[in-house]
Amino acid sequence: MSADERFLDRVLTMEVGRCTEAAAIEASKMIGRGDKEGADDAAVSALREAFNKLHIDGTVVIGEGERDEAPMLYIGEKVGIGDGPKVDIALDPLEGTTLTAKAMANSLAVVAMAQGGTLLHAPDVYMDKIACGPGYPEGVIDLDAPIEENIAALAKAKGAPTEDITLCILDRERHQSLIEGARRMGARVFLISDGDVAGVFHTTEASTGIDLYVGQGGAPEGVLAAAALRCVGGQMQGRLVIRNDDERARAERIGIADLNRKYALRDLASGDVIFAATGVTNGTMLDGVKWERGYVSTHTVVMRSKTGTVRYIRARSQR
Ligand code: FBP
Repeated sequence: MSADERFLDRVLTMEVGRCTEAAAIEASKMIGRGDKEGADDAAVSALREAFNKLHIDGTVVIGEGERDEAPMLYIGEKVGIGDGPKVDIALDPLEGTTLTAKAMANSLAVVAMAQGGTLLHAPDVYMDKIACGPGYPEGVIDLDAPIEENIAALAKAKGAPTEDITLCILDRERHQSLIEGARRMGARVFLISDGDVAGVFHTTEASTGIDLYVGQGGAPEGVLAAAALRCVGGQMQGRLVIRNDDERARAERIGIADLNRKYALRDLASGDVIFAATGVTNGTMLDGVKWERGYVSTHTVVMRSKTGTVRYIRARSQR
């Protein structure tokens, strides 16, 4: 990589943070208004406008949906001025639309950017996921092992009893047996109503108390979470969940050959990646957008896998 490219890469990291700030600020105007589509639309327009000021030749690979179902930031849409590096972009302008509509914790504006061809083009289907934070021996968790075994293995590696393991799981009927299995092991279960990018991200910070993330959530969110883990360390595995012909067709259209493939972290995000997230509502790791007389404040994390740098940025701009 030339010195110019290295410089660009560093500058881009901050620029991507500016993009998620813009999306979060617009989405925050919709907090608590009971209108999840309206909140999403606000974030999408702001993110698209911000991207289109960047000197990149970007392609959305994970976006708001397929071209015929999303007017903006659809999969395949070109973004940026077009005079910079070729990059793939995975985005969720508002991760946690319901959380925003109901003014609940942990909604985020999220973007991952990587060299072209290095992010999995995940269809809009579910993915089975398992993730843990950094510092454990490779292979300590396994998507195909029973939950009890994963908890026992993690507890052993942590040097702690299973009672000291905390799992984060989306509160859904489909996760009942995972939740029961975890509780049988004496582990704690931290249930979230939405937002599994934040859920996975929780495993990377000891202060959250979350050791393990498990369960089925969106596959696009799986790629975004993997991008974050690539920057901070940690382990993750995922497998698409194909429930019907429509989902099979979606996956095939996007070029997935093996629908049963078990993806490791580097299969989901293989190259150098930049990740940024800005809090919309207050959360465990990021504060939400705050409006005060004359200005608006944001809290953003930006990270780069190449250097492993994690920056938390508090920004304030006049309004
Ligand atoms: P939205 O931001 O699109 O509302 O998605 C929120 C979310 O909770 C994701 O984080 C998660 O991957 C997915 O929905 C889970 O889907 P479901 O609500 O169908 O279980």
